[in-house]
Amino acid sequence: MTADLTQTPQQTAETFYLKDYTPFGFEVESVELTFKLAPSATRVVSKICFIPKPGTPDPRFFLHGEMLKLISARIDGVDVAPTVTPEGLTCDVPQQRFVWEAEVEIDPAGNTALEGLYMSGGMYCTQCEAEGFRKITYYPDRPDVMSIFTVRIEGDEEVMLSNGNPISKSDGLAVWQDPWPKPAYLFALVAGDLVNHPDTFTTKSGRKVELNIWVRHGDEDKCAFGMEALKKSMTWDEQAYGREYDLDIFNIVAVDDFNMGAMENKGLNIFNSSCVLASPETSTDANFERIEAIIAHEYFHNWTGNRITCRDWFQLCLKEGLTVFRDSQFTSDMRSAPVKRISDVIDLRARQFPEDQGPLSHPVRPEEFQEINNFYTATVYEKGAEVIGMLKRLVGDADYSKAVDLYFERHDGQACTIEDWLKVFEDATGRDLGQFKRWYSQAGTPRLTVAESFANGTYTLTFEQSTAPTPGQPDKDPRVIPIAVGLLGANGDEIRQTQVLEMTEAKQSFTFEGLATKPVPSILREFSAPVILERETSNAERAFLLAHDTDPFNRWEAGNALAREARVAMVLEGAAPDADYLDALTKLLRDDTLDPAFRALILQPPSQSDIAQTLHERGHTPDPQKIYDAAETLAQTLAQQLADSLPRLYADTTVTEAYTPDAVSAGNRALNARILTLLTRLDGGEQAARQYETADNMTQQYSALANLMKAEKGTVQSQAFFDQWQDDRLVMDKWFALQIAMAVPEATARTAAQLTRHPLFTLKNPNRFRAVMGALAGNHAGFHHANGAGYQLLADNLIALDGLNPQTTARMCTAFQSWKRYDNDRQALIAAQLQRIQTTAGLSRDTNEMVSRILDA
Ligand code: PHE
Ligand code: ZN
Repeated sequence: MTADLTQTPQQTAETFYLKDYTPFGFEVESVELTFKLAPSATRVVSKICFIPKPGTPDPRFFLHGEMLKLISARIDGVDVAPTVTPEGLTCDVPQQRFVWEAEVEIDPAGNTALEGLYMSGGMYCTQCEAEGFRKITYYPDRPDVMSIFTVRIEGDEEVMLSNGNPISKSDGLAVWQDPWPKPAYLFALVAGDLVNHPDTFTTKSGRKVELNIWVRHGDEDKCAFGMEALKKSMTWDEQAYGREYDLDIFNIVAVDDFNMGAMENKGLNIFNSSCVLASPETSTDANFERIEAIIAHEYFHNWTGNRITCRDWFQLCLKEGLTVFRDSQFTSDMRSAPVKRISDVIDLRARQFPEDQGPLSHPVRPEEFQEINNFYTATVYEKGAEVIGMLKRLVGDADYSKAVDLYFERHDGQACTIEDWLKVFEDATGRDLGQFKRWYSQAGTPRLTVAESFANGTYTLTFEQSTAPTPGQPDKDPRVIPIAVGLLGANGDEIRQTQVLEMTEAKQSFTFEGLATKPVPSILREFSAPVILERETSNAERAFLLAHDTDPFNRWEAGNALAREARVAMVLEGAAPDADYLDALTKLLRDDTLDPAFRALILQPPSQSDIAQTLHERGHTPDPQKIYDAAETLAQTLAQQLADSLPRLYADTTVTEAYTPDAVSAGNRALNARILTLLTRLDGGEQAARQYETADNMTQQYSALANLMKAEKGTVQSQAFFDQWQDDRLVMDKWFALQIAMAVPEATARTAAQLTRHPLFTLKNPNRFRAVMGALAGNHAGFHHANGAGYQLLADNLIALDGLNPQTTARMCTAFQSWKRYDNDRQALIAAQLQRIQTTAGLSRDTNEMVSRILDA
């Protein structure tokens, strides 16, 4: 019997709801898979032992399966004829334990969606999260079905890997066994001509673990940094969370074509090569930092995600929020905690706040979806991590540890929910988290307004919280908001140390007694809650906090607020660049007592999109060109004000020692790069050209090139850069992106369009696609140029990509998510493009869902 069901399932608008959860009616005792590898016709033979669960609410035997050619199916050795649809199959099955056997054929070489088993640069690899395993074989592809897997790989590839421990290996065959029960989304297989960078790690209880990073020939020298990061992560998780690794081997593989950053498959992490390969010549400091964080993130999933997984995909934040929180703790410990916190908040405001205030807003734990791939969002990940940070702040460090220990003890080996997670905190601390849970169920960013009063030595802060309606949630209830506050005296001394106020009402006052004079408050220290703080205050007070606050985050925040207000005033009132702000920056820049990385962050102006968001929040319609002009004027004025000292500052901050990617030297280079950016405005790129000539590392080469391009003086260097790096995909991604990022508004879409015609542009590689289209969408004034060319170009490319790779297409649709911020003309232009995408014949379910939600705004 053969049935050809290799067409993509019909584009359906079926919606899945959290409230509909029902358990699967069968236990899966064990899974044995045999892969007979062939590029266009791989055979997958499965042997799965099922045990019906007595008294189950839904006794149907349904196995997911998509794009599979079913060759044969048997139950207990007897051929059966299941009912097959494009989504899966059903079959009559015995009432007791039985063995299901099936053989299917799949086409890895033809798989451009990069989900399931596919080929990248001649090598086989898999991506199964969230629902990709069903493109490999028929299976109950849901995270609450956990089983032990044995995998036989037959093929003539040099290296053939799967999860768990290797149990036998001979010519043409490798057998792997994973002793830990796992859901199918953590399955992985890799086969290809790979080389490894090996090492070992001994866990605290003495287990010796073999570590490998597997890469293509030629990339061997880019593995050392990732390996160090892995070992640091393993040690940190033992020390900070008491978590040890649980297999004899841990493999990481670098893959060029990958939809996301990396994937935590049990014992076999698969990485986008951009998130693991590093060398001083080809990677920037930012790349190194990101690689360290992602290696840690995927490793930490071994306990938060793999040993304890999610009951269903609505619970995605259970593993992702917690794992992001853990990796940010790791980075804070390895590098600078304040710098990490500031960078995380910049990122949250850039990606999560717009999402939460636009048509794609959804709760940290969504209650419905059409395509789960569309919910790997900044809200689930980053706001999910913020929620855990708040929980920790509320219960304190000791109780946080107690609760998390209880989580591991109680739920190891289980597929859990947010209720389970909150319950361990309730049981460990005796707290009622009923109200706190709203952070998981209510979408939208709360706004917090503050009023203050002072009388008879008592200082009172009165807060009011409110959250605007979000799709499907017109009314919001007050949330628990931890507000960390400290008070400063007039001379800049801290007169009340940080204290966490626990706000639970819509409006609530807190008093501080026994004060001689009215203090200056430092509110929301360390950004203690993901809210928008609105407080009427003066630039003088902001400058005072910038100079004196003991909380580094709020110190930065004061400078950030000054910069923001200066820009807003320029845009709205045509004001001149604010003198207080310029003076404060000038002082900070020269203040050698401050961490250079921190100074670099203060010098980094709020992004243009951030200013657009602020204007929108305050009820104005942002004009991208005006925002661009204000940014240019402000930077030019600052450069002129500093003219005398810039060459010396540049010289003093130039790092001349041999390159190392550590946080301290990276911070020095970051400050130096900021100074170069200002200097380039005055010298027309002379210094940048010299830096380009002498740079022996990508960080300095890249910043030199960026500045030259921005000054429109980089033609020669851009060509030289291309000639030098054309064979290095990851560096070429930078080259593509930089030209678009640095283009003036009117040239942005044209530059991007030209680059899509470059021989090295391809829709098939998500990194390259994102390099070009991401840079287009990220150039705020260029993308939103009034002629609409940016919108059209993006839409053209989304339409072109959708048939090949729906996931990456759908994610890139977020470039349009904030369209309602802008004027009617721009809205009309964007709506026309969104409608054009929406009405494309055969549009994927992924993209259809995204475009429809955005258009429904
Ligand atoms: N689970 C991965 C992570 O966050 C992300 C991912 C999701 C990768 C879906 C691939 C596909 O670590
Ligand atoms: Zn993750």
